[in-house]
Amino acid sequence: MALPFMTASEAALLVNNGDVVGMGGFTPAGAPKEVPTAIAHRAEALHAEGKEFKIGIYTGASTGDSCDGMLARAHAIAFRTPYQSSKDLRNELNSQQAHYFDLHLSELAQNLRYGFLPKPNVAIVEACIVNDRGEIVPTAGVGIIPTICRLADKIIVELNEAMPPVMRGIHDIYEPADPPMRREIPVYHVGDRIGTDCVRVNPDKIVAVVRTNRPNEVGKFTPSDETTERIGANVAQFLEDEMRCGRIPKQFLPIQSGVGNIANAVLHALGENPHIPPFTMYTEVIQDSVVDLMKEGRVTFASGCSLTIGADKLDDIISHMDFFRSRIVLRPQEISNNPEVARRLGLITINTALEADIFGNINSTHVCGTKMMNGIGGSGDFTRNAYISIFTTPSTAKGGAISSFVPMVSHLDHSEHSVKVIITEQGIADLRGKSPIQRAHEIIENCVAPEYKELLRDYLKNAPLAHTPHNLRLATAMHQEFLKSGDMRNTRWENYL
Ligand code: COA
Repeated sequence: MALPFMTASEAALLVNNGDVVGMGGFTPAGAPKEVPTAIAHRAEALHAEGKEFKIGIYTGASTGDSCDGMLARAHAIAFRTPYQSSKDLRNELNSQQAHYFDLHLSELAQNLRYGFLPKPNVAIVEACIVNDRGEIVPTAGVGIIPTICRLADKIIVELNEAMPPVMRGIHDIYEPADPPMRREIPVYHVGDRIGTDCVRVNPDKIVAVVRTNRPNEVGKFTPSDETTERIGANVAQFLEDEMRCGRIPKQFLPIQSGVGNIANAVLHALGENPHIPPFTMYTEVIQDSVVDLMKEGRVTFASGCSLTIGADKLDDIISHMDFFRSRIVLRPQEISNNPEVARRLGLITINTALEADIFGNINSTHVCGTKMMNGIGGSGDFTRNAYISIFTTPSTAKGGAISSFVPMVSHLDHSEHSVKVIITEQGIADLRGKSPIQRAHEIIENCVAPEYKELLRDYLKNAPLAHTPHNLRLATAMHQEFLKSGDMRNTRWENYL
């Protein structure tokens, strides 16, 4: 059977209004690029003719601008899950032009198989190899590829020549059976391989193969600054102390680390700390700093779902595949983020909060409780099942006008029951074994910015005596003040009583 090669515009004609499309990849790494762009152009043309065109979209996580950005600007998205980080898509979601359900990333594939969500009828995936035996080798991100390829009736493959076939062997493709037949996922060490090196599909379902040659649209990190460096140093200090006290074994435990500048600074600090031995990672996104630490011998193995790294770093990996193939494995997100595996391996999880409250609850997703930022991503998969769960955040945002710590989070993603440690550039709040009022003192004295300490101490004085002392009139006063005057430092409790 000859593979059905065609252009992206021809492939886009295979996607119709009302279709439910599953996209491969995870973050911009391995996300399809040319076909989504062509679908967006098609949507714009149809809208100009007064015709409807919207599709539902499942992805691994965020994608690049040529997918989420283009489709959002074309108003072509009916619904979207499980995660995004596109400014234009965010605008669509926050103006209710598109429906979004924020989901733990490990759950999406099984939710699709269980039939909880509409079945994807089209899968669009990027590959470095596709052949007429139905073998599809993903590129820098796996995401939900195995499941969408199995469930979809039509598979469109972007064969990206910028991602060479030598990438074969870095992936480990495994889909668990569904209950009541599910057994344990046999990952006992971060490097265990339990599946195949490609996704196997019925070749008759491959309806289009589009040749592309496009790098991943991975953004550059802003360089670390004093705040992120201090957060990184505090995390390293905390883990060093835990090891010294014997609460982390001498050989250390695998690290899960979120994405972004803080995560990069934390990994850098762990890498530099002479008391922390070379370590492994069982994480979602493998980012630039991990590649450097691996070359220095500080990270000995990284299991993830994507290589969300700059083009230069990806070239480095591709040019030294023999070195990296034995040190990196890319898994479907159902496995990279699996709660069972996270609990078994004893992960030290480090994620970033948008906002925390003085009792240790975390908001990762909603600005002032209403506007979606990105989504919960994998932070819940890992936090709830961690050996030690850590949240990091700068103590303030917007030049100090926002305190990252408020009396009550305006939206709850991770509850006090799952959050064990909070770390800012100010210091470390160890919440383990502490009552709500003890946690509040620990957080205010160690993590809150100096200009907000007195305000939050006074909040507790204004709260009636109780196990968790809240004054429900004042619980959102800092948010209200920010919305009113643009600065939480103007909060006067008496104005809200
Ligand atoms: N209230 C309102 N806005 C706030 C805020 C708060 N408490 N805290 C931060 N912000 C604003 C910042 O000012 C910034 O705004 P800007 O884009 O206009 O400059 C924006 O939110 C992002 O803040 P930043 O400090 O740059 O955050 P980040 O890039 O480190 O991302 C999260 C922080 C929480 C948004 C991000 O980590 C995330 O999406 N987490 C959820 C998913 C996750 O944890 N994934 C990893 C799991 S593997």
